[in-house]
Amino acid sequence: MKRIVILFSGEGSNLVRLIEELHLKHCVVESAITNNPQAPGIAKAQALGVRVEVIDHTLFESREAFDAALVRAVHAHAPDLTVLAGFMRILTPVFTLHVKAINLHPSLLPKFKGARAIERSFESGERVCGVSVHWVSHELDGGEVIAQETFERSAQETLEGFTCSIRAIEHRLLAQTVKTLLQ
Ligand code: GRF
Repeated sequence: MKRIVILFSGEGSNLVRLIEELHLKHCVVESAITNNPQAPGIAKAQALGVRVEVIDHTLFESREAFDAALVRAVHAHAPDLTVLAGFMRILTPVFTLHVKAINLHPSLLPKFKGARAIERSFESGERVCGVSVHWVSHELDGGEVIAQETFERSAQETLEGFTCSIRAIEHRLLAQTVKTLLQ
């Protein structure tokens, strides 16, 4: 069976969905690695039987030093693919040149790269919005797009409803894309 490593930073809803849908069925989730010792996703992954490693970025003197530790941890599992699922750190070439990774982003890239993508998509008033999965490159949210799914918002959509639509697509699209890439 193919092996993956998942990186996350917070709630871990995408992490949970990946584990539930893929672990020991389509691949082995070797490890879930987080930069945030307080991430609620830690307990969720452990409850699903997946090993969690914490590499606290605040303990490193530079982004490069943190990335080097992250690369060592990832390589220790020799994964076929590394999946960034709500991983909220900017990565340097120390990571991007040495790890084959994909990232989930809550907008139709190349639109709304970077932080607050859901809010910025919503505020743009664009009718058709969506979610992207892309290869991780040295450019933030700038690597080649692998998969996108769109939805059309209704005229009276609230930010809350809009966010729910995005989250539902994220959960589905990331798991599906990982499956396809591992085939
Ligand atoms: C997702 O919206 C992801 O696209 C963004 O951060 C969120 C992570 O959510 N980068 P979760 O931790 O998977 O619940």
